[in-house]
Amino acid sequence: MARVKSFTFLLLVQALLISPLLCVLEAHASAPLSKGLSRKFYQSTCPKVESIIRKHLKKVFKRDIDQAAGLLRLHFHDCFVQGCDASVLLDGSASGPSEQQAPPNLSLRKRAFEIVNDLRELVHSECGRVVSCSDIVAIAARDSVYLSGGPEYGVPLGRRDGLNFATQNATLANLPPPSSNTTVLLNALAQKNLDATDVVALSGGHTIGISHCTSFTDRLYPTQDPTLDQTLADDLKTICPTTNSTNTTVLDIRTPNIFDNKYYVNLMNRQGLFVSDQDLYMDARTKDIVTNFAVNESLFFEKFVVAMTKMGQLSVLTGTQGEIRANCSVRNSDNIYLVSVVDEDLETKSELR
Ligand code: HEM
Repeated sequence: MARVKSFTFLLLVQALLISPLLCVLEAHASAPLSKGLSRKFYQSTCPKVESIIRKHLKKVFKRDIDQAAGLLRLHFHDCFVQGCDASVLLDGSASGPSEQQAPPNLSLRKRAFEIVNDLRELVHSECGRVVSCSDIVAIAARDSVYLSGGPEYGVPLGRRDGLNFATQNATLANLPPPSSNTTVLLNALAQKNLDATDVVALSGGHTIGISHCTSFTDRLYPTQDPTLDQTLADDLKTICPTTNSTNTTVLDIRTPNIFDNKYYVNLMNRQGLFVSDQDLYMDARTKDIVTNFAVNESLFFEKFVVAMTKMGQLSVLTGTQGEIRANCSVRNSDNIYLVSVVDEDLETKSELR
């Protein structure tokens, strides 16, 4: 009898612990995917793509965990401007300066671009030119989150790379500045079908990484932002003695390199670095979401995955649209190496005829 009772108790514990988990997993699995994307897209053409990327990034982050933040931000900047098409990776051309040269992208880490090209080389040498740069960026962003302590999740794959980069104006118009208040953020992200929960969850990306002084010194000088904690303001004034200081500081003062929910605890203590962060706690429409994420990390993780999955599918190119770049920084038609390989191929074929 005692055995039956303890067995029933075990079942109850299991049901309580496991069923909410299953609901979360089901919710992710059933989130609608854009046409042409699938979590198993490379199952037959490049089954090892995700393990190759994970293995390499583990090595990179072991040496320098800061790179995780650079890769996560790169995916955000790719998706918000012209969709997740790796256009942010393209070098400038005769047609004009690249997206990379637009002001919000100047602080993207150069190393992040190099890591993506290294990953592309590893993946293409295993499978050939079948995996897009935009998918590599999306997988690398997921791995950056996971390997810094955040949630694991499946990334819908099958994106293709864009043929053109966006103009400087389009880049500026699509990436809200850090001085944005919640109204500006909600309106900007609503245009991309992202709701208030998505906005608060995605801003949680600021749980890792750094910022340059110039992104927030308007909160210190000439007058101090009253929503900024005094001790943090004093520290920031030491780090950034002038408005144009080139110094940097961490985004999350509690756990700067760990992907956790401490960013929201910071906001509740007036320790958000940007207006766009701190105002999420000051605005009645988003305050409760911040509080809920600060007290419940699993809830933050769950909503972050939902929002990242939505962001990762913004205006994606699929099927026969775009191309699979042979070099993430150059479109194939401008790729001298690729053009000469194709020419050689054609020459060899005509010689054989
Ligand atoms: C919602 C509006 C957002 C604004 C206004 C914003 C603004 C900024 C700014 C100004 C920086 C610092 C740049 C610098 O001075 O070096 C930054 C860094 C960063 N952002 Fe955002 N961001 C936003 C959304 C996001 C999203 C959606 C993510 C990812 C999910 C994200 C991830 C990051 C990361 C990881 C860093 C640190 C990068 C590094 O250390 O290299 N941000 N953001």
